[in-house]
Amino acid sequence: MIKIAPSILSADFAKLGAEVAEVEAGGADWIHVDVMDGHFVPNITLGPPIVNAIQHYTALPLDVHLMIEQPERYIADFAKAGAKVITVHAEACTHLHRVVHMIKELGVQAGVAINPGTPASVLREVLPDLDLVLVMTVNPGFGGQTFIPRTLQKIREIRQSLNEASLLDVHIEVDGGVTVETAPLVANAGADVLVAGSAVFGQSNRALAISQIRGSIRG
Ligand code: DX5
Ligand code: ZN
Repeated sequence: MIKIAPSILSADFAKLGAEVAEVEAGGADWIHVDVMDGHFVPNITLGPPIVNAIQHYTALPLDVHLMIEQPERYIADFAKAGAKVITVHAEACTHLHRVVHMIKELGVQAGVAINPGTPASVLREVLPDLDLVLVMTVNPGFGGQTFIPRTLQKIREIRQSLNEASLLDVHIEVDGGVTVETAPLVANAGADVLVAGSAVFGQSNRALAISQIRGSIRG
């Protein structure tokens, strides 16, 4: 079962409550929250108070993607703000194993993200501890970028590693450039959670946008 996680990065920040409520009514499975610090990525977005505010407007799991340096400094704040999943970047963690376990000890699902230039092999030692692997299909920092096709091979490789280790509950999430054209490709490669920013919030009818992405996978 494929999950669609609209990214609020492409929503109207002046009415986030209404925006998340609209995609929930439109059939979204998770709400993807992109946190950027202006250091790990060039852009700055939002922090724990915004996560805390939007949790009152949706019952969907809040899937928090930390594109920040030293994420261990903020994990407890995001957990307290209502994050259901917290994903950190492997590239941002000197002590990745420790950070993953910090997340789990807070009762939150733990994810690790890897950039397009990072091989899947960096995940090997923490894979059994993870709830989610996030394969970046663009370089993080901005919405509306073009999908990088070479990442499909990495998705296949991670799905194979999970299968070989019988880690069948670990999600593979993809983030960046997901459209009705690329959704079937990533789903076939083994992704089961699809983040979509501009493909959902860039459309006036969000329910239709979500159902078209789902339809593109089935079709
Ligand atoms: C990229 C962010 C993505 C982004 C996806 O830095 O992590 O979540 O919002 O946007 P689209 O779907 O527009 O590529
Ligand atoms: Zn993201």
